[in-house]
Amino acid sequence: MTLERCKIIDLPKISDPRGNLTFIEGQRHVPFDIRRVYYLYDVPGGSERGGHAHKALHQLIVAMSGSFDVVLDDGRGKRRFHLNRSYYGLYVCPMIWRELDNFSSGSVCMVLASNLYDESDYYRDYGEFQRALRTAQ
Ligand code: TYD
Repeated sequence: MTLERCKIIDLPKISDPRGNLTFIEGQRHVPFDIRRVYYLYDVPGGSERGGHAHKALHQLIVAMSGSFDVVLDDGRGKRRFHLNRSYYGLYVCPMIWRELDNFSSGSVCMVLASNLYDESDYYRDYGEFQRALRTAQ
């Protein structure tokens, strides 16, 4: 099942009384080369977003500040992950429908992605996503 490939990655954490440090290296801590970074910020508390899937993109989602939930759906099952620590990342493989909700106010969601922005890599319609899954079987 595709959903089983998605998991929380425990990132390295250098604890220091001056402030902790975490780092992420492509192909070492995440199973892809990092080609793009984007982040959501100034998110109003309780808001939702991100109802889409990607055909080929691999991503790692990190709560840099605050907290939010990520709901992943591979067409067969759903799983909800609560992210609230900047040393945990949620790895999302291709062909997973994802939605983000339950944002705490002032939270920051950083995403590391395996490729540049490409609108043709998106499924924005859930029915189209389901049809693509059936065709691939
Ligand atoms: P989108 O991925 O659709 O986010 P959501 O599903 O949460 O609304 O992105 C929102 C808009 O930002 C969309 O018009 C495309 C644009 N965008 C870029 O131009 N580059 C990027 O790297 C990303 C992630 C989005």
